[in-house]
Amino acid sequence: MDGHEVNIRTQRLFKAFRGDKKEVVALKDFALDVDEGEFVCLLGPSGCGKTTVLRIIAGLETKSDGQVVVSGEEVTGAGPNRGVVFQEFALFPWRTVKKNIEFGLEMKNLPLAEREAVSSRYIDLVNLEGFEDAHPQQLSGGMKQRVGIARALANDPAVLLMDEPFGALDAQTRNLMQKELLRIWAATKKTILFVTHSVDEAVYLADRIVVMTARPGKVKQVIPVGLPRPRDRTSAEFISIRGEVLEVLEEEFEKTMMRELSKTVVEHKT
Ligand SMILES: Nc1ncnc2c1ncn2[C@@H]1O[C@H](COP(=O)(O)OP(=O)(O)O)[C@@H](O)[C@H]1O
Ligand SMILES: [Mg+2]
Repeated sequence: MDGHEVNIRTQRLFKAFRGDKKEVVALKDFALDVDEGEFVCLLGPSGCGKTTVLRIIAGLETKSDGQVVVSGEEVTGAGPNRGVVFQEFALFPWRTVKKNIEFGLEMKNLPLAEREAVSSRYIDLVNLEGFEDAHPQQLSGGMKQRVGIARALANDPAVLLMDEPFGALDAQTRNLMQKELLRIWAATKKTILFVTHSVDEAVYLADRIVVMTARPGKVKQVIPVGLPRPRDRTSAEFISIRGEVLEVLEEEFEKTMMRELSKTVVEHKT
């Protein structure tokens, strides 16, 4: 893996949702390539289509038009070459940590001994030793997300798709999980596409930050983060890139806000 092979390719992605009254165009002309082993953060104002992009790549949502190719194969549905981690932990409450991680392997009818070998490897990787037989409700938010990451990795996907996975965590846990994710990424060499609305998180994590426009979402600007890891949030370089990204993002935030405001005005008139 030289890090230059394209792993995720989306072209001319178009997505319209059909509501009861009107159509919502969520994505228009969205195009993004992510290289093998690359860590890309997708950033944009709320409602710009970040989750939609991720769900389409995951095969959990259909596209209206365009093309999505992962590891050289056109995406037509969910598949084991893509692992997903969402903000809601989406763990099975009746299953233990171990059994949550083994879920995908059970689906693949892997024998018990192999399943246990895999789950124990990923339990080690995400530092959950000693919690193998705990149930999700006994775990903190950060630990639940560790289980979610281990479960996604257990299928050995080429790509990890993460949708604001640390959004519900408190600030300290969030920072710790960001560090942990970088460690896991370095150990597994996965391609990661990570959605966030935190500029700080994106600058801390990403090789490249992709800023989306307000809806209909497309790529507004791609900002490379050339800083060595681990990154120092207090360094002048970090603060300077954060400022640059924020500036690009603010224009789009304003567009979103203007639209929300004008909607309110119209609603008040009627
Ligand atoms: N299932 C759906 N049905 C109708 N509209 C949807 C659906 N999912 C998302 N949308 C709309 O598509 C737009 C993009 O949504 P989403 O991808 O969730 O944005 P983000 O994750 O950037 O906040 C929003 O306007 C949202 O209301
Ligand atoms: Mg979202």
